[in-house]
Amino acid sequence: MRVEIILNGERIGREADPDMTLYDFVRAEGCLSVKCGCESSSCGLCTVFVDDVPVLSCSMLAARAAGHRVDTLEGLQEEAGAFIGFLADRGADQCGFCNPGMVMNTIALLRENPNPTEEDVKAYLAGNLCRCSGYEGQLDAIMTYLRTRKEKTSRLWESRCARRTPWNSCPARRAIRLTLPPGSVL
Ligand code: FES
Ligand code: FES
Repeated sequence: MRVEIILNGERIGREADPDMTLYDFVRAEGCLSVKCGCESSSCGLCTVFVDDVPVLSCSMLAARAAGHRVDTLEGLQEEAGAFIGFLADRGADQCGFCNPGMVMNTIALLRENPNPTEEDVKAYLAGNLCRCSGYEGQLDAIMTYLRTRKEKTSRLWESRCARRTPWNSCPARRAIRLTLPPGSVL
């Protein structure tokens, strides 16, 4: 059967067996960031977005994604780039095999909740397993990224809005809003 999806913004199609998983499908299309750690919906490594919803691609048939938008880390470089350096700085990745799945779910979390607490982060990423790190490094990296982003936003706000311009006519405030994920309150 022929399955067509919009993969990272590009319409693609290929022949797929009825039992082909979405994981095998996107890997066959060159999306090698998507990893497989268990094949049984247990590790989160194979996370992709289908219509912006994170799904475990090892547990979804490619045919079910037909006609839908599928995004992998390859298509989300800009969004991931904002905090991926913090993972490296904190030495959070060791073998790095779990990183793409963790980054995908962190992006999903920040889209849903731009200002999560530490408990929110732990709860959201509970399904992402890592065999090397003990999770502290990743948690520290994400919380440091959130703190840094907040401090940067406040500094911008203080430096450019000192004259207390009405919020909807303040160019600085509009500029800051553009740097925040959708749904952020400023
Ligand atoms: S490979 Fe899909 S959840 Fe582990
Ligand atoms: S860093 Fe190796 S599995 Fe997470």
